[in-house]
Amino acid sequence: LRTVGKSLFVCPPHHPAGSLELCPAVLFFCRPRCSGIPYVPQPRDKSVSARSVISFYNQSAIDVAAEKPSVRLTPTTILYAGKSPDNSHILRSAQYLYKELPVRVAHRIRDFRHLPFIVGCNPTILHVHELYIRSFHLLSEFPPVEDFESEEKYTKLVKDLLDDHKDVVTLLAEGFRESRKHIKEYKVIQDFLDRMLTSRLGIRMLAQHHIALHQEKNLFHVQPNYVGIVCTQMSLKKIIEKWADFSRQVCEYKYGFAPRVRVLGHVGVVFPYIPLPLDYILPELLKNAMRATCEQHADNPVNMPDVTVTIANNDVDFIIRISDKGGGMPREILEKVMQYHFTTCGSEMDPASENLDGLGTMMSAMNDGPNGAGPMYGFGFGLPTSRAYAEYLGGSLTYNTMQGIGTDVYLRLRHIDGNYESFRI
Ligand code: COI
Repeated sequence: LRTVGKSLFVCPPHHPAGSLELCPAVLFFCRPRCSGIPYVPQPRDKSVSARSVISFYNQSAIDVAAEKPSVRLTPTTILYAGKSPDNSHILRSAQYLYKELPVRVAHRIRDFRHLPFIVGCNPTILHVHELYIRSFHLLSEFPPVEDFESEEKYTKLVKDLLDDHKDVVTLLAEGFRESRKHIKEYKVIQDFLDRMLTSRLGIRMLAQHHIALHQEKNLFHVQPNYVGIVCTQMSLKKIIEKWADFSRQVCEYKYGFAPRVRVLGHVGVVFPYIPLPLDYILPELLKNAMRATCEQHADNPVNMPDVTVTIANNDVDFIIRISDKGGGMPREILEKVMQYHFTTCGSEMDPASENLDGLGTMMSAMNDGPNGAGPMYGFGFGLPTSRAYAEYLGGSLTYNTMQGIGTDVYLRLRHIDGNYESFRI
């Protein structure tokens, strides 16, 4: 037996363990972990598995949706679309999602289909692919959202889907690690992952924005200074300090000590922004700086140098520099730090790649992803994902390193109310 998404599939009786045989019951490759133990026949929901097969082969609805362009909104548009006293903004927001989500999910499915065949056949990657097909059907077959009653049901569906997809990044990391020996062109996979992860960030931001608007109907859920996911007065210093405290706790847990974090520069700035992507990126960068510092100064933790975070703000963008004295990086790994690490891993995580993301798995164990969005750490996905997110947000993530001394990482992000048009979600 194996579970795929929420549907239960039954492997054929004499299916040999670990084989990559095409399982005729479901037109899927059986998981390598499949035990091959004969199964006890049991009543199956035929419509579920038949539907799965059909969705792989009879894809016209997906094809049609995948041809449509997605309608990307600026944060200012979503900010000023809220809030009307009769709550009509919530209905409009649901109606926008109702049209938009199937198109964006169909784009993801199209990308899965374009993966190199043998990579796309990896059971874990297939599992994620099927998760998207299932979501496409649930979203596109939902009756039109016309009133608050259907909006309520639709919002519940979107919440459930966010939850169903919370482990997508970890699953993809696992799937690509499993199939790395078949990956001939790293660039193809990098482009797939960059598109997949940033588009997913966009989908999740839109979905969470709608859910937050929906919850604001209830006075108990109203968060001061928030419209949906947009914080109208975000203090960069506060958000940095929040994640510095968190990363220090993780660091103390692992090493028994942690460097202090000093925040300098334009510490008083407050502006409208969406904290959610920062909640992914900042802990990733801070834990890297702390890890390097702890490992470099393990013999004298009392005199460990601080990690310094400097904020610079201007009319167009804001820059966060995270400086550590953790010894910098050797030339050999300069190229690799921004790569999705499945290519450098051994059959288990090899020590070199593990070292690049030393706190990774522990972070994921302690933190089931900021905002419950699923773990993004471990497997060496943290830095490349953060860079892809920064670029999606109209910014960049770069670094300078001095081997033997330390590293400066620069996160530059565009204002949503600046002098130039910001990113589109
Ligand atoms: C994801 O988080 O991977 C999604 O695409 C969520 C969406 C289906 C609501």
